[in-house]
Amino acid sequence: MKIIVVKDSAAGGKEAFNVFKEALKKGAKVFGLATGSTPETTYAQIVSSDLDFSDCTSINLDEYVGLAGDDPQSYRYFMNKHLFNHKPFKASYLPDGLAVDEVKELARYDQLIEENPIDLQLLGIGQNGHIGFNEPGSDFTGKTQKIRLTNSTIEANARFFENEDQVPKYAYSMGIGSIMQAKQILLEAYGQTKAQIIEKMVNGPVTPDVPASILQTHPNVVVIIDEAAASLLNLK
Ligand code: GLP
Repeated sequence: MKIIVVKDSAAGGKEAFNVFKEALKKGAKVFGLATGSTPETTYAQIVSSDLDFSDCTSINLDEYVGLAGDDPQSYRYFMNKHLFNHKPFKASYLPDGLAVDEVKELARYDQLIEENPIDLQLLGIGQNGHIGFNEPGSDFTGKTQKIRLTNSTIEANARFFENEDQVPKYAYSMGIGSIMQAKQILLEAYGQTKAQIIEKMVNGPVTPDVPASILQTHPNVVVIIDEAAASLLNLK
C-alpha cells in the first residue's frame, strides 16, 4: 500500500487526478468509479482538465435499490451531475436500482465487470470499513450482490436525505472479489471521522469485520488521505 498524506480533500483531489491521468497515459480503458462525498474533489479536477475519457468505460460500485436514475439521491444522478454530464465516457454503467428481476440484474452486472476488466478502481471507505456497500462480514471473494445496509451506514448517509427514514435499506454493490480483481486501486479518505477505520485498514488484521483490510493483500493500492484521516497512523 502506498500512502500519500495531503493537507485536505482539495489537495487529495489533485493527487487522485494524477493517478487517473497516469493510468490513462498507460492505456487504462476501464475505470471503476465511486460515489459519496469523498471523490467529489477528484471528479472536479477531472472535469476541469482536458483528459479525454470518450474512449473509456466506467463501471460504478453501487446503487440504492428502489431509486430511479433521475432521483436526485440516486448514485446515477450523482455521477451524471459530478462527472458524466461534463466528461462523457463511451459507456457508463451502474446497477439499475429499479431492476424488476434482481437475480438477472446481479448477473448482468457481473457479466459487465467480466467483459470489461477494471484497470483503475476508485474507492471511498465507510466509517465501519465498508467498500462499495460491502458491509462488515462480507465475503472477500463476493460478486455483485444485494446488501442490507447496516444502521450505522444508514445513519452516516442520512445527511444526503431529508431524514433517516428516507435512506433506502438495500443497495446493489459490486462484490469485494470483483473490486480485488482491479489492476490498480485508489482509495481516498478525508476527515477525522475516518481516522479510526483508516488505522484499522492499514495496520489491523485482514478480517471481514473490516472489509477494506483486504486491500493490504492487493499488489497495487494507492491510499490518499488528509492529515485528519491519517492522525492515528504512525507515519515516520
Ligand atoms: C457510501 C458509499 C461508499 C462510500 C462511503 C463513504 O455508503 N456506498 O462507496 O465510500 O459511503 O461515503 P463518504 O465519501 O460520503 O464518506
